[in-house]
Amino acid sequence: MSHNYKHPIPPGIAENALINAGQYTEMYQQSVEQPDIFWGQQGKILDWITPYQTVKNTSFVPGDIRIRWYEGGTLNLAANCIDRHLATHPDKIAILWEGDDASQSQQLTYRQLHEQVCRAANMLTALNVKKGDVVAIYMPMVPEAAIAMLACARIGAVHTVIFGGFSPDAVAGRITDCAAKIVITADEGLRAGRPIPLKKNVDEALKNPTVTSAEKVIVFRRTGTPGEWQDGRDLWWHELMASAGTEHTPVPVNAEDPLFILYTSGSTGKPKGVLHTTGGYLVYAATTFKYVFDYHPEDIYWCTADVGWITGHSYLVYGPLACGATTLIFEGVPNWPTPARMAQVVDKHQVSILYTAPTAIRALMAEGDSAIAGTRRDSLRILGSVGEPINPEAWEWYYRTIGNSHCPIVDTWWQTETGGLMITPLPGATELKAGSATRPFFGVQPALLDNDGITLEGACEGNLVITDSWPGQARTLFGDHARFEQTYFSAFRNCYFSGDGARRDADGDYWITGRVDDVLNVSGHRLGTAEIESALVSHPKIAEAAVVGIPHAIKGQAIYAYVTLNAGEEPTPELYTEVRHWVRKEIGPIATPDVLHWAEMLPKTRSGKIMRRILRKIAAGETSGLGDTSTLADPGVVERLLEEQQTIN
Ligand code: PRX
Repeated sequence: MSHNYKHPIPPGIAENALINAGQYTEMYQQSVEQPDIFWGQQGKILDWITPYQTVKNTSFVPGDIRIRWYEGGTLNLAANCIDRHLATHPDKIAILWEGDDASQSQQLTYRQLHEQVCRAANMLTALNVKKGDVVAIYMPMVPEAAIAMLACARIGAVHTVIFGGFSPDAVAGRITDCAAKIVITADEGLRAGRPIPLKKNVDEALKNPTVTSAEKVIVFRRTGTPGEWQDGRDLWWHELMASAGTEHTPVPVNAEDPLFILYTSGSTGKPKGVLHTTGGYLVYAATTFKYVFDYHPEDIYWCTADVGWITGHSYLVYGPLACGATTLIFEGVPNWPTPARMAQVVDKHQVSILYTAPTAIRALMAEGDSAIAGTRRDSLRILGSVGEPINPEAWEWYYRTIGNSHCPIVDTWWQTETGGLMITPLPGATELKAGSATRPFFGVQPALLDNDGITLEGACEGNLVITDSWPGQARTLFGDHARFEQTYFSAFRNCYFSGDGARRDADGDYWITGRVDDVLNVSGHRLGTAEIESALVSHPKIAEAAVVGIPHAIKGQAIYAYVTLNAGEEPTPELYTEVRHWVRKEIGPIATPDVLHWAEMLPKTRSGKIMRRILRKIAAGETSGLGDTSTLADPGVVERLLEEQQTIN
């Protein structure tokens, strides 16, 4: 089957959809020709305390990178996600929680969520957290993670959610960078029956002498095993919440006041603190949620992403709640205790919109029919995919097996920096192609450029840039606007560079080909090669390291690390294990190299630059097409590396 085969919109979808093909074309045109009018209108999806005066005030001109939306407007995010729904549907379920253990589940109505968030806001205020202060949230997938985020937003505090899989060192780095005053965590998380020692990790992180800002640690009790308790610093969530009042007036903030910082990996240096502000971000999260998932009030919506990633922010918590939806938070993993767990959760809660990642789809596909054993999945209406390119085989399996061939798949391309979905089908408007993210969302103007910055036309492949601002765009990198300009606006003039490559076919549909920079995508997790290399070389026995990605059937990419040891060190099996463990400890399990290749030397140019292009080919087992190796300082090094090429076992 050709990859350009079009799946027509399944029957019954377009008729009932919010946007059909004609409306998409018309609205898209207005959104790019008259962004002020279009987004001025869409801004009404929120309740504003003071109406905005200026819809768009943005510039991508070097030296004057300026991204401001809805200036003059004031609002409160939590009030938009909760309070305003109390008038129309107080008893609708806001958060549906499914525990790791299927016998545990919980429901929170909008009224109950309101009470919890008010208490949490009062709790933080009592601990002297004020507007603009930073709160770190290092939580498992429990409703309290969302409650903590919403409580911060309610008082105008800025949250930084740290993925529960990050190591103490990674937690310490983030807390220090943003000077978080409070850490909210849990004693332990639970995933696939295994405890995750979150509180112990926080204890260790806070022992790091660089961490001086964190005054208190609030601990949610999940398993009852918090480890060491530091009186005066550590406080139980349930005790503070019990004594906090249930009344709270949301604090008005400006549209451009910061909402959160989220750290993400880049091609160089330490993770970057991507900063999102309030008004534009929420307008964008809400409109994309509504149109891309074709949200109807009776939907039960399930996004499997962890709250520690941008998808967890925009499409687990903020987008759905701003629209008054029921959002399902799942604590566990899709294939535990059985490969059919994901399908069982769909049936149990009658999920109608399912948003997950290609890596999960491929892992289930590998299980064959046991991934759907005993389930019907007939409540499903829309499927979504996010995080990495979805290969056509996985797409077809998702479509036929999970979706019973009647649910459109929205393959949504976007990034931490974009705040919300950028290139994606709309269920009622777009014919689908397996593996294509298809068309830009309203207001998004993609272009493909060659390496010299020349705009390519028609069917072509190139660097994916966006030529004008959209409301959900990140405003800066926390504390480093120069790095923001350098990272996203210096490669190509007057546009935002995504770091991805893409192909556009003759119909004008986009196919994302993956990162063109030194960023890896391992099971949908974004990792910088520089970050892993710096963790490796911090090991006392390692002299030098170079990390590349290699294709992997389930994870998308696997981590292949070339490691040169200090003179006199022997590459033993024990050291192999120790080095992998070292990276786990430095960053977290997701960054553990799949393969270590002990390399006597790395291929370098005469000026000392490591030839990554060659390393990528050797790692992938490609012996031909290594290109010109004559510029290498020692051409023989390539031969030796090729002989020692490692495979994943
Ligand atoms: O390479 C693209 C890939 O994930 C990167 C962004 O990662 P992150 O900021 O962690 O956000 C992930 C969730 C939005 C992108 O630069 N990516 C994300 N979605 C897709 C994708 N690649 C292809 N198709 C997608 N649908």
